[in-house]
Amino acid sequence: MNGPVPVEILRQHLIDPEICIRCNTCEETCPIDAITHDGANYVVNADVCNRCMACVPPCPTGAIDNWRNVLKADAYSIDEQYAWDELPAQNSSVGALVEAQAPGATGEAQAPPAAVDAPVAASDMVRGSTVPPWSAARPYVHLYTHKAPTTAIVVGNYRLTDDATESDIHHIVLDFGAMPFPVLEGQSIGILPPGLTADGRAHHARQYSIASPRDGERPGYNNVSLTVKRITCDHGGNATEGVCSNYLCDLKKGDVVTVIGPFGNTFLMPNHPGSHLLMICTGTGSAPMRAMTEYRRRRRLKGATGKLMLFFGARTQQELPYFGSLMNLPKDFIDINLVFSRTPGQRKRYVQDAMRERAVDVAHLLDDTSTHIYVCGLKGMEEGVLQALREIAETHGMDWEALWDRLKREGRLHLETY
Ligand code: A2P
Repeated sequence: MNGPVPVEILRQHLIDPEICIRCNTCEETCPIDAITHDGANYVVNADVCNRCMACVPPCPTGAIDNWRNVLKADAYSIDEQYAWDELPAQNSSVGALVEAQAPGATGEAQAPPAAVDAPVAASDMVRGSTVPPWSAARPYVHLYTHKAPTTAIVVGNYRLTDDATESDIHHIVLDFGAMPFPVLEGQSIGILPPGLTADGRAHHARQYSIASPRDGERPGYNNVSLTVKRITCDHGGNATEGVCSNYLCDLKKGDVVTVIGPFGNTFLMPNHPGSHLLMICTGTGSAPMRAMTEYRRRRRLKGATGKLMLFFGARTQQELPYFGSLMNLPKDFIDINLVFSRTPGQRKRYVQDAMRERAVDVAHLLDDTSTHIYVCGLKGMEEGVLQALREIAETHGMDWEALWDRLKREGRLHLETY
């Protein structure tokens, strides 16, 4: 017998070091610890990764969604990946082999794993939509990168929270002048803080959701706003100084900031007039909700209909960003439900408690195919909110598993927690 010797080809999962903002989301999300990092890069261990895709939707930049066909024996090692400044090109001879074995499977980035060795389905691990709403505008992404960033000028920096409180949250307005920087509500940008890390490397970018609508913080201006909380302690409560948040919160008018992005092509708002928005957030997770609400407020004057319902949690009223401006919005435009967890003398309330109290109205929205759900804020909230949605759906006669699946498939359930 002298037929061709079969070679084992691997669709290797890789992370683009030029786009990755080192936010750790992929490493946290990976259910089998296939992702790891050193001081330079986040990398995927080819021996462990089963291409389940659980890490792909949560990645804020899309750096995670890169694939190369390699001979299994020649898969890029972790150490090779640590040394990369950019991804290698697809090896054309392996590409030709794959094309022969599985026509059409040779695409490079932005493609799901091809069928050379079938991926493990992980629909149960992906909790939110991986596609945008059908009517969302097409976003621009990655116009500016680590290698070729742009700059913006600070035109405003205001503290949003009461001076007497511990939470120091700022509304920062950045103007791009004549440099094109098109954004949509729900997208984010990366900020490159100046200075070096303790081991002498440039700081990697930190990602912030845009808090202003597509036509600018000020309509018609080429500017965006961010909602930034000064980080003074880590998740464990130990004192630490957030490199980028402190830099941003201390900026003065006229300062120049280095920016990359925009990022994000799924957490986007629907554009059809009758679409409803159910928005659930905590703290600075309010940024995309403010952007969407303001865009709808501006469009409302031009006849956009559809309901807006907001659940917003903060420690106290004084620590809730945008409290004053939210309270000034007309009641027939947006149904606002604020909850506070640390108001002296009052019981602790979370957004999911308020959702249960408003179950009938939430159920009406869940039952309407025009409803799009957005959840942004603390990681811990995600589980609680999904649980509340399940309970509300089931007590109102809906099959949550089927509805959840449909919401995900139709780009109507968007989760961004950190
Ligand atoms: P808590 O007082 O228990 O920390 P932060 O100011 O830290 O960004 O938090 C915003 C709000 O989110 C706070 O009211 C906080 O309450 C609340 N929160 C904390 N954990 C959860 C959770 N698992 N689900 C919903 N809300 C939460």
